[in-house]
Amino acid sequence: MPHSRMTGLGYYVPENVVTNQDLTQWMETSDAWIQERTGIQERRYFTYGKDTNASMAAAASRQALERASLTPADVDVVVYATITPDYYFPGSAFLMQRELGMEGKPIIDIREQCSGFVYALSIADQFLKSGMYRTALVVGSEIQSTWIDKSTSGRNVAVIFGDGAGAAVLQATDSPDHRILSTHLHADGRFAEDLYVRDPGSSRPDRAATKEMADEGGYNVVMNGSAVFKHAVVRFGEVIQEALQANGFQPGDIDLLIPHQANLRISDYVRQQLGLSEAQVVTNIQRYGNTTAASIPIALAEAWEQGRVQEGQLLCLAAFGSGFTWASALIRW
Ligand code: ACO
Repeated sequence: MPHSRMTGLGYYVPENVVTNQDLTQWMETSDAWIQERTGIQERRYFTYGKDTNASMAAAASRQALERASLTPADVDVVVYATITPDYYFPGSAFLMQRELGMEGKPIIDIREQCSGFVYALSIADQFLKSGMYRTALVVGSEIQSTWIDKSTSGRNVAVIFGDGAGAAVLQATDSPDHRILSTHLHADGRFAEDLYVRDPGSSRPDRAATKEMADEGGYNVVMNGSAVFKHAVVRFGEVIQEALQANGFQPGDIDLLIPHQANLRISDYVRQQLGLSEAQVVTNIQRYGNTTAASIPIALAEAWEQGRVQEGQLLCLAAFGSGFTWASALIRW
């Protein structure tokens, strides 16, 4: 049976840097409040007319493909995670496919929010292991700056999120030395409304107008911050342990943990729970905020660029997000 190996990583973050101080022009907040509770110092916002969800994904994908010495023509399947597609439908994978000139190739749009990239990775891994495809492009891309409520009433959510995209190339290999060892996926819909955006929802009164949805606040992110925190710190630990146990490892065997960049307090809690050092955990939330499905591939690609990812290392990707969803992947690099 073939295995999947990650052979190229890429990312794109928009050039527009928005600092905590910049946010004070729209809402009552402060750099100290944001840093103390989230660790975030700045984030990137897309530039209208230049960036789209799909164009950012395409930029990240081009870089990942180039680093794998491949072209878009070599890709057999695209699995694309986002909660902020350019259109309500079709998904942004279609637009990225068009931009990269990959017409006719199968594409799959994935939701699953902050766990989206790990879900996408798992699906691509199954395609390669089954022998159906040899090369997959796995993408996470988000433009969140357009839908967050930047007034004081939305500040508990608005300060957290940013825009960006990341991508990974997976190739089938017969060698077991460098491969995705396993992936682990979970979801629990009982908590759907603890972190959600209702509109444009379809289960509404007939012909509900866009204006009504907006007036009712249906487009705003609703977050039960303490519920998210409590579940996240438990689920992150569980799903990391699950991956380790499935492969006969202990937490100390992890060379690099790449968690979804939800909130620095959550990552720190998980790091301490597992007894890992700061050097063993990748964090870049200080500079990019929480980029939902893009956060893991951006963090992984940056860590690779910085030389922190070395051949033979044991890498663990772990995510928790709205739904609730949680997921992990263990990789022998
Ligand atoms: N600036 C200043 N004050 C603020 C801000 C802000 N940006 N946001 C909220 N406040 C105020 C509130 O108005 C409130 O004031 P009050 O006590 O006078 O009423 C007080 O701070 C507490 O408000 P909460 O909404 O309860 O904010 P909380 O202290 O819970 O902090 C935070 C918000 C940091 C998001 C917290 O809930 C948290 O850490 N949650 C964990 C979940 C998380 O990180 N979610 C984001 C990622 S989701 C994911 O990726 C899975």
